[in-house]
Amino acid sequence: MLKRLPIKIILAESKPAPLVKVCGWVRSVRRGKEVSFIALNDGSCFASLQLVVEPQLLDVLPAGLGTGACLSVVGELIASPAEGQQWELQVTEIELLGGVDESFPLQKKRHSFEFLRSIAHLRPRSNSFGAVFRMRSALSFAVHQYFQQRNFVHVHTPIITTNDCEGAGEMFRVTTLDPQKPPLKDGQIDWTQDFFGDSTGLTVSGQLQGELFATAFSDIYTFGPTFRAENSNTSRHVSEFWMIEPERAFCDLAGNCDLAEDFLRHMVGYALEHCAEDLDFFDQRIEKGLIKKLQSLHKAEFHRVSYTETVDQLQKSGQKFEFKVEWGSDLQSEHERFLTEQIYSGPVFVTDFPKGIKAFYMRDNDDGKTVAAMDLLVPRVGEIIGGSQREERLDRLQQKMTAHGIAEGELDWYLDIRRWGSCPHAGFGLGFERLLMYLTGMENIRDVIPFPRTPGHADF
Ligand code: 4AD
Ligand code: MG
Repeated sequence: MLKRLPIKIILAESKPAPLVKVCGWVRSVRRGKEVSFIALNDGSCFASLQLVVEPQLLDVLPAGLGTGACLSVVGELIASPAEGQQWELQVTEIELLGGVDESFPLQKKRHSFEFLRSIAHLRPRSNSFGAVFRMRSALSFAVHQYFQQRNFVHVHTPIITTNDCEGAGEMFRVTTLDPQKPPLKDGQIDWTQDFFGDSTGLTVSGQLQGELFATAFSDIYTFGPTFRAENSNTSRHVSEFWMIEPERAFCDLAGNCDLAEDFLRHMVGYALEHCAEDLDFFDQRIEKGLIKKLQSLHKAEFHRVSYTETVDQLQKSGQKFEFKVEWGSDLQSEHERFLTEQIYSGPVFVTDFPKGIKAFYMRDNDDGKTVAAMDLLVPRVGEIIGGSQREERLDRLQQKMTAHGIAEGELDWYLDIRRWGSCPHAGFGLGFERLLMYLTGMENIRDVIPFPRTPGHADF
């Protein structure tokens, strides 16, 4: 039996082929008296294959050939006389696997991303989302390639957990208790009677467990789903996203920034080398100048500036902000944008934040006011990486946990790695969707994840 060839392989052929089988979905049909032209796409690459079909073959097809229909065809691959394409398929056999009618929502005209989001089950068949999800797949591979080539051990950290790593109270609860009548103790829900004998939720970060592995394997990374029940409806937040979290023993904040920078450079280089066709599309239709931006990013050194300097720069800029810039408050997205777009025109690491706005595990600096934290900010998207050197001194960490209201004994296992064989270590988390936004130019995070989960939406 003749084997189906992906269109990506067919279009890369160096010579004509007498007998080729291809299957895919119709992007457009142009009917003519002499011949008809069908653009067929199978998702293996951006381009469609042009099928040239004679009327007698179409006449015997059942009804249902139109945009969106599924075809299996056999034919001869010949050099195309048409401009803009090297090959076309002169069809000798055609089978309609799945027909359509005019109600198929993805007709040829351009649709808004908002509309396409409402048909997230069909949008992978559009040009834009084909490009987005092929790139997502390629870059996901590039993540593993980067770390595996550098001897980082991949750890699958748990999805169900008892700890709220970031301490922001944004965990989704996981329970099998009856919501109508949960068991009570002293008027409160008695979580000891729940499935795991404790109150559990979906992880907001694999970091704490990652640290355990870093103090055994030295260099590790996680790449998994994370969940945040944060009620923010912005173009940069989703409730379920994928995070890459490397963790290194014997590493400080500067080394952590070096790793982040090198890793991002690898991702950019991988995209330029392996996703050229999809990037061309984004460059033309989504963000003009994207490829140039990525090429210069690939060579650029990222700026590093302390939070304290940043606050000073923003205050002196003369720019009117909605939120006042004050030492001790978090940077708002308008501040982040101003920094990356106006002051630095590129990515910038902001380091050494006030300890009052950062998580309990970050290492205290000697000034007594700041912690060894870093955020990587990029134009348009804002924060794509958050990381830090971790507090490895047992007594300091215990004090910090108390100050953050973490009950004694709650994270004893986390303290144990400071009790026995403690070492300086650092790591960061890169939001995979935010990276994709940056590399594709897509403006809404809902459009770089297959099935976005946001407040009020867990469709499909
Ligand atoms: O800055 P965050 O909260 O850091 C951590 O979770 C650390 N435990 C990471 C570590 O040090 N191992 O999150 C890290 C990154 C952010 O910079 C952002 O890119 C992404 O995760 N992120 C989100 N992406 C999409 N939607 C959300 N709601 C996100 N929240 C964070
Ligand atoms: Mg952060």
